[in-house]
Amino acid sequence: MTTIDAPALIAAAREAARNAHAPYSRFAVGAAVLLTDGSVVTGANFENASYGLSLCAETVALATVNSLGRLRDVVAIGVIGGRIGHADSSPVSPCGRCRQVINEAAQLSGRDIPVFCAGAEGDGIATYRLSELLPLAFGPKDLGFV
Ligand code: THU
Repeated sequence: MTTIDAPALIAAAREAARNAHAPYSRFAVGAAVLLTDGSVVTGANFENASYGLSLCAETVALATVNSLGRLRDVVAIGVIGGRIGHADSSPVSPCGRCRQVINEAAQLSGRDIPVFCAGAEGDGIATYRLSELLPLAFGPKDLGFV
């Protein structure tokens, strides 16, 4: 099994956040998803002029993981975020929709996925399990897919 290096995952998320398309919120988010073979898939938030149709970094990264056919191979996720042009160090935790999307990978993989959360800068990392972030989750298990 892959060893989980939380600081490395956060560093990959920070790198991904450099490509955030966030001209409206001016809040850049990066996500990094560790897979069972040690590979890391990243994503950045992708806003658009309609505002409401913006895509979060975690969802972008997990959609790529799905495109690779690897949803069941998700081991851990790192998320960072902060206001563009500020040295924000408060950890960003996934929004409600992203928690539901992470839950899809969690139930399909059979892992209570650890989610590492950090700010755009600083050494602090807050660690949660998905079950803490989304208790009593509804998911593929309820539909008989697991
Ligand atoms: N955002 C994410 O990418 N992930 C989250 O979990 C929280 C919010 C993005 C959406 C939007 O582009 C910006 O951060 C401000 O809400």
